[in-house]
Amino acid sequence: MARVLVAGSFNVDHVWRVATLPAPGATLSGSYATGPGGKGFNQAVAARRAGATTRFVCALGDDVGAQLARDLCAADGIDLHAAVVAEPTGTAGIYVDAQGRNCIVIGSGANGALAPAFVTAALEGVAAGDVVLVQLESPLDAVAGALEAARAAGATAILNPAPANVAIDEPMLVRADLLTPNETEFSALVARHVGERIDADAMSGLDQQRLHALCRELLPHGTVVVTLGASGCFVSHPEGALRGDTAACYRVSAEPAQVVDTTGAGDAFNGALAAALARRPDAAFIEHVRFAGRFAARSTEQAGAALAMPHLTE
Ligand code: RIB
Repeated sequence: MARVLVAGSFNVDHVWRVATLPAPGATLSGSYATGPGGKGFNQAVAARRAGATTRFVCALGDDVGAQLARDLCAADGIDLHAAVVAEPTGTAGIYVDAQGRNCIVIGSGANGALAPAFVTAALEGVAAGDVVLVQLESPLDAVAGALEAARAAGATAILNPAPANVAIDEPMLVRADLLTPNETEFSALVARHVGERIDADAMSGLDQQRLHALCRELLPHGTVVVTLGASGCFVSHPEGALRGDTAACYRVSAEPAQVVDTTGAGDAFNGALAAALARRPDAAFIEHVRFAGRFAARSTEQAGAALAMPHLTE
């Protein structure tokens, strides 16, 4: 069976649950928990638990956080390829409010030292039909290297352009077969690459043809999936490359969920989408998107990031 290969970040998440997200100068009381995270690792766990044979390529320090990554990969059956570097393992400080919304500060640490050559070597053997999934919490040359390795092998290259504050250039976009921004990331990409300023909060209210036109300008050769939180997601394919769908663009509504914590929901979506593409390459794309939406919804019903990923049986 085809595999999912994720290259990206591992973080030790430090999470405070608070009634409201802190304003500048505020001191709040909250409850604290720690656990594994990082967009790359969350996506790898999601892909694995969604049923795909999964490799995770990252950089770790030589510390307790690194051991946590190794133990969790072993427990979940993830094939870990980790460079050990002279930086502490990545960390994230996360506040989660009573509605499950979050804000995050990253200490990239070892993630910032992920070398392109290490990534390329770890992706050796990637084959047609495999799915390579990357995000933007790693050096951009390493991200580009992973996308290139995927495309050279005829694998599907998925770029999850998260977080939104990392700017990417045109050549990076050109390397992606599939782009999966959330509304904030899409807003930033549209401003930078299409030259239109549209507020992230206004994205879900745009009509389908307008969203489709923006997606086509942004990634003329590839599929764009814009995740819109409680409004579900929007899919846009290039004409003539519909990935088994019958329409070039459509909306998929959100799966209902008893939301506890949205941290990692986007990662759940991306990992599950990658797994679905690897496991059932002949199914229509809309089926993969629906599966990923259900998977992400279930992930929001548990606190935490990587450990909130559901298993296939759920
Ligand atoms: O997407 C959620 C993740 O973002 C968290 O686990 C945190 O580590 C940051 O990378």
